[in-house]
Amino acid sequence: MTIIFMIPLDKLVIEGGVPLKGTVMVSGAKNSVLPIMAACLLTESACKISNVPDLKDVITMVKILRSLGAHAELEDGVLSINAKNVRNHTADYKLVSTMRASFCVLGPLLGRFKKAKVSLPGGCVIGARPVDLHLKGIKNLGVDIDIQAGYVVATSRRLRGKSMFLGGDYGSSVLATGNVMMAAVLAEGKTIIESAACEPEVVDLADFLNKMGAKIKGQGTPCIEIEGVKHLRGAEYSIIPDRIEAGTLILASAITRGDVLIKGALKSHLGALIDKLAQMGVKVKDTEAGLKVKTENKLKPVNITTLPYPCFPTDMQAQIMSLLSVTQGVSVITEKIYPDRFMHVAELNRMGANIMREGPHAIIEGKKFFSGAPVMASDLRASAGLVLAGLAAKGRTDVRRIYHLDRGYEKLEVKLKLLGARIWRERE
Ligand code: EPZ
Repeated sequence: MTIIFMIPLDKLVIEGGVPLKGTVMVSGAKNSVLPIMAACLLTESACKISNVPDLKDVITMVKILRSLGAHAELEDGVLSINAKNVRNHTADYKLVSTMRASFCVLGPLLGRFKKAKVSLPGGCVIGARPVDLHLKGIKNLGVDIDIQAGYVVATSRRLRGKSMFLGGDYGSSVLATGNVMMAAVLAEGKTIIESAACEPEVVDLADFLNKMGAKIKGQGTPCIEIEGVKHLRGAEYSIIPDRIEAGTLILASAITRGDVLIKGALKSHLGALIDKLAQMGVKVKDTEAGLKVKTENKLKPVNITTLPYPCFPTDMQAQIMSLLSVTQGVSVITEKIYPDRFMHVAELNRMGANIMREGPHAIIEGKKFFSGAPVMASDLRASAGLVLAGLAAKGRTDVRRIYHLDRGYEKLEVKLKLLGARIWRERE
């Protein structure tokens, strides 16, 4: 007799139609804290990271650091990490396959130990997720790379700085830039990365490494220079706010025609989104207290193309698609980073949207409203898009498999409930 253990799956239930009102606080950035946690491997001294969001992906990275022999503890938003006793240089498939970002332990393991064995992350629903740019950049630093049974086996007698071009067919790579930076900080000589990613999370990582004693400049521009040093010390650091969570909360206010104050967000990280929303008729005001988002009037359709920072972020594509689905007129979204990142289209159409997929384009004919329905989350940002649709829908929406959402949003339903949303978590 076989006993099948069903992992309990949670869903979010939403009774839509409530204009959100009130104040909400943005958490620390997931895509900043993950590589910064990996960077703590570069020193045998203690590091303390604050403003850390309580997310499943952070817990996964804690487990990976512990599996390598490091001490890692998250308590009340503060991470204490000490990699003094790291003896194991293998990041195993079980953990890496659950979270692609764990591939960024490759750079720091090489930087400090000159060897690493890291499982290839594999693909996910949003795309193939290759790592060729990571490997190209690491090889440029004098590392021998071998692929054995799904693992990257990397060794080096000594890491030497080098100038390199790191752009790919889809533009710059966030985590490849991070991996190469973390391998280069202890290399001999200077490394120059052309076509480096400019995302704020890359800047945060470089600023943290500099606090550890690294010599990095140009972060935030397409050309980053790293002067290798002999040793890195421990550091204390506070993570930047999560611009994607902030963008998601801005859209939650807009799609419900609400009046919300978003504290802790940095308007300078949200230029492309705020510019597009202004074209639609959504005003995002930068006040002393935070970003004020008040939307009353009829909105206008716009076209969106996702591109590397500072252009429109692919991680906001599903969320803005929900808003455009109930904005009368025709809008077109072109996904240039992950051309298959459209798992949310079929689910939004189940809620009454009229979206047609044509290759990397989604053609949206805006309707008057969504109708609540049971829908299935497929990935982190698609889940957020479905929650936004549910907030605006007539009737009840059940967003199933929200373990996807829990990877990257800290208690989103609690924050939305505090803004007046009728939303709660239920066991499937
Ligand atoms: C980071 O992933 C983010 N994740 C992603 O956020 C985000 O969508 C992505 O950057 C783009 O902004 C983290 O920071 C943990 P990339 P990353 O390398 O670094 C291609 C979320 O929802 N590419 O910048 O893995 C790649 O296929 C997640 O929080 C190569 O071709 O993405 C894509 O088309 C989802 N070869 C483009 O580059 C490579 O070696 C950008 O990918 C690497 C990437």
